[in-house]
Amino acid sequence: MRIDLVSAVPDLLHSPLEHSIVKRAREGGYLEVHVHNLRDWSQDLKHRKIDDYAYGGGAGMVLQAQPIFDCLESLMAERAYDHVIFPSPDGIPFRQEHANRLSLCGNLLILCGHYKGVDQRVRDVLITDEYSLGDYVLSGGELPALVITDAVARLIPGVLGDAESALEDSFMDGLLGPPVYSRPEDFRGHRVPDVLLSGNHRKVAEWRYQQATERTRTRRPDLFDEYQNPSNPGNDHG
Ligand SMILES: C[S@@+](CC[C@H](N)C(=O)[O-])C[C@H]1O[C@@H](n2cnc3c(N)ncnc32)[C@H](O)[C@@H]1O
Repeated sequence: MRIDLVSAVPDLLHSPLEHSIVKRAREGGYLEVHVHNLRDWSQDLKHRKIDDYAYGGGAGMVLQAQPIFDCLESLMAERAYDHVIFPSPDGIPFRQEHANRLSLCGNLLILCGHYKGVDQRVRDVLITDEYSLGDYVLSGGELPALVITDAVARLIPGVLGDAESALEDSFMDGLLGPPVYSRPEDFRGHRVPDVLLSGNHRKVAEWRYQQATERTRTRRPDLFDEYQNPSNPGNDHG
């Protein structure tokens, strides 16, 4: 898979791509990530300006259409992208099912917003998917783009070993994950639940399912409702 990240602050993107699973995915040849500086597409050769005031007034600058169109169109001329993604607080909530679907793609392009956002004509013409990372406002789309990249990279077949199997993670089966423990059996008087030491695989599986169900019911009643009623209108997240 290839992911192209387009940003006005590309230095923000590098370090997280050079560690852990994303690094392994890249080194293993499963994932290529290319970072592009939007300022390289500025027509203002002196200051490399890519933003301007918002029509209608108000505080804050807007990323202009021209550098974004020029950059994205040049990338799109080189290859077909399965999705052109814009992280935005007004997008649909990014969920595991989106990461699962994106992990099967060949080429993804992610545009990071900045300032007040990007000129709406970019979104109208070039963007295919808009995702929110949560109901709060971040300073730019770089962290959301990295979150999406990480969530997708770890699902590319071959990237995770068996010991890290994504299939057992939260959300994969519609539930939060169960608690996990490691050695020692007794840490400062806090004991590992006996069932996990029993060696009885069926009982362990039952306990994990019961814990996952209870966690989801108490912490995320919205998810629990979806889990119990998957065909309810409103439980389809596109
Ligand atoms: C300061 S924000 C702009 C917020 C915008 N004026 C609004 O009210 O929705 C700058 C950029 O950060 C990114 N961003 C901020 N919060 C985000 C979130 N919760 N989810 C996804 N992207 C976000 C978007 O790319 C956005 O264009």
